[in-house]
Amino acid sequence: MALLPYLILCLIPYTLASQRRLHPRDDAAFSPPYYPAPNGGWLSDWADAYEKAQRVVGNMTLAEKVNLTTGTGEFMGPCAGQTGSALRFGIPNLCLHDSPLGIRNSDHNTAFPAGVTAGATFDKDLMYQRGVGLGEEARGKGVNVLLGPVVGPMFRKPRGGRGWEGFGADPSLQAIGGAQTIKGMQSTGAIACIKHFIGNEQEMHRETTVLGPGYSSNIDDRTLHELYLWPFAEGVRAGTGAVMMAYNDVNRSACSQNSMLINGVLKDELGFQGFVVTDWLAQMGGVSSALAGLDMAMPGDGLIPLLGDSYWGSQLSRAILNGTVPMERLNDMSQVTRIVATWYQMGQDQDYPLPNFSSNTLDEIEPLYPGALLSPTGVVNQYVNVEGDHNITAHAIARDAITLLKNDDNTLPLSKNASLYVFGTDAGPNSNGLNSCSDQGCDNGVLTMGWGSGTSRLPYLVTPQEAIANITPSAAFYITDTFPSDLTPNASSTAIVFINADSGENYITVEDNPGDRTTADLFAWHSGDELVQAAAQAFSSVVVIIHTVGPLILENWIDLDPVKAVLIAHLPGQEAGYSLTDVLYGDSSPSGHLPYTIPYNETNYPASVGLLDQPFGQIQDDFTEALYIDYRHFLHANVTPRYPFGYGLSYTGFSFSNPVLTPLTPINTTFPPPRAPKGPTPVYPSTIPDPGEVAWPASLTRIWRYLYPYLDDPSSITPSSNASTSEYPYPAGYTLTPHPPPRSGGGAGGNPSLYDVAFTLSIDITNTGSFSGRAVVQLYVSLPESIGVDVPGLQLRDFGKTGVLDPGDVETVVLNVTRKDLSVWDVEVQDWRTVMAAEGVGLWVAGEGG
Ligand code: BGC
Repeated sequence: MALLPYLILCLIPYTLASQRRLHPRDDAAFSPPYYPAPNGGWLSDWADAYEKAQRVVGNMTLAEKVNLTTGTGEFMGPCAGQTGSALRFGIPNLCLHDSPLGIRNSDHNTAFPAGVTAGATFDKDLMYQRGVGLGEEARGKGVNVLLGPVVGPMFRKPRGGRGWEGFGADPSLQAIGGAQTIKGMQSTGAIACIKHFIGNEQEMHRETTVLGPGYSSNIDDRTLHELYLWPFAEGVRAGTGAVMMAYNDVNRSACSQNSMLINGVLKDELGFQGFVVTDWLAQMGGVSSALAGLDMAMPGDGLIPLLGDSYWGSQLSRAILNGTVPMERLNDMSQVTRIVATWYQMGQDQDYPLPNFSSNTLDEIEPLYPGALLSPTGVVNQYVNVEGDHNITAHAIARDAITLLKNDDNTLPLSKNASLYVFGTDAGPNSNGLNSCSDQGCDNGVLTMGWGSGTSRLPYLVTPQEAIANITPSAAFYITDTFPSDLTPNASSTAIVFINADSGENYITVEDNPGDRTTADLFAWHSGDELVQAAAQAFSSVVVIIHTVGPLILENWIDLDPVKAVLIAHLPGQEAGYSLTDVLYGDSSPSGHLPYTIPYNETNYPASVGLLDQPFGQIQDDFTEALYIDYRHFLHANVTPRYPFGYGLSYTGFSFSNPVLTPLTPINTTFPPPRAPKGPTPVYPSTIPDPGEVAWPASLTRIWRYLYPYLDDPSSITPSSNASTSEYPYPAGYTLTPHPPPRSGGGAGGNPSLYDVAFTLSIDITNTGSFSGRAVVQLYVSLPESIGVDVPGLQLRDFGKTGVLDPGDVETVVLNVTRKDLSVWDVEVQDWRTVMAAEGVGLWVAGEGG
């Protein structure tokens, strides 16, 4: 074993030790200003695309430019949102559409397993393949910008409604899941849109509406960098074309116009070259958001949709003509160059299909603009089948995510002639029919995904009930959540009990849960815990299958003697049935691992991660637990969880041996070497355009409430002589003088040296058991006290998964540790700091739990 003397390398069992307390910090009070918006185009990877964009944008009229920045309005086209077009240059209305797991509200599409399920596979290749499938389906349907992946929320709040759309409760798991998805999606030409930037950790009160303000996520600088920004940095490094801002405020400034987050963090520090888009109806102001770096407003409407009003559209034309928004911003806003460059960067100028579906209807011929009172009609659905062979990837993910928590007496796998009694509505179909609930807004039948915009229709569904019935004739089904009173099973029968826990997005309330799990707590829905308890009374062998959006308290039954085996099948999408029976009957050994911690009790979490609710005023959600969420907290507080993050058993056994640590890039400075200066960005004349460019074209047939860039009598608008000082209340700190490039930046995702691989670690994994199976290796780092600040005891930084190993087979897995993986964010210096020569750093490898 080649082990460097200054590194501690340990193979750890799954009990995690306690750590030091983080000092409270008070730098999360107010978001500071950061102006002006940095232009894009200075990174070499994007140079060609920007060159092409510059040629086009330099010849655009003001109307064409504004068109690309602003959506045409809610329900004013087939997609969740669409921009206006610049047809003279071949740029159509760009279609932006959900979801992170399949094409939403469409047909003949795949319903992939959810993000949390992909996370549970700990399989980078499957994450990538899922991205490819999603991208191919987006392209096939004519979706230019697919609204995913989700890497925020990050399960800070176990009850939060949308944690399941992302990959798990850890920044590196989110980062790797997100980056693999982006690379896969964009390999097809679809533009990925990583979301929601940032701090959108609960659903209730996320949005500012006429009823009141959305909550403010108050996050200190170090926590922002080391937890919540981490996956976005990797997403930018993976080349994401778009970033969606969150609904909420961060440090009391709305994300969609938070200049520090957009201009400072995303565009300067992370070197993001693509475009920044609002979440839907999250734009708060026109000039303010333009100056703060926002590039695209979706779906285009102002605070209240369907009134034909916009903060941008014709108002942006006006703000340019009167000089309030500098022409330079629009050109970059690019707000236009950024959008056009991204379109070129993904090759969408080469035969990219137009939308051939409508998310508004399944009918073939319908109004083209359903948001308008009077709309022309036409063919809106061509029912293009984009499924390809993506069911194979979907099946592999659903199967390889299944996480075995308990398997006493080797109860699993089952023999094909075992006598089974199957209980629970979660084993069966939706009793009202497949896809009978809009956006999956109900919990009826097997839970394949949560609810909300992060869903898609199921093209088909093989339920666990069908899959089990197809495999064995010796199963009796009780598709009910009430245990039958008259049952007398014979002693050798096994009960299989299906339970679930659902959550989703705030615009739908399911069984009194407004997105977040307010009423359901962290318990199974539909009295699932009682169903397990009743089965344990009647049977001596009970197997529990759980479909869940996130952590669940299992204490009502997990220690009951008859409860022999427990599987978490996460959210499997369309492949729920056979992916499960593959594992139940031993065709595959379970190889999923928990992407979050399961506690004994909800009180085991820090109090600050509970849901917040108040009738009036803005909720201040203070992230006082700082870096200590999920397993970082359990370690820190020395609380033993029921099942820790990363836990998962197998039918076989693995041994880990022969760790070889190879130093690659030496760490001989505590801060990364100086960054390169920024490259040039496109320059355009900054003269205010001819007002005639936004006059209504005489030939245009106007559609009422559709959002246009045009103005009545634009020539009456003249630039104010001193717009910058008197007429518009520019935000404090507003300036036209660019910031010096931040030292922590310099490349996509930050200073490129941060991503230098400091060490590789290779490990041999041997299947020592008697089943075939796949092993997961998780690499955690611990930082020494000499780093000078409190740090979580262990932090996941990389993972790998073997192929299927037959008994006796050996595979070598290689893991990477970068400089950034060993760094903390220095809030004074505003850069990533590590320890010289990695002295005192610990690398910890975890494998199969148990
Ligand atoms: C959601 C986004 C989604 C958008 C468009 C919003 O309500 O928060 O995740 O992409 O709607 O449907």
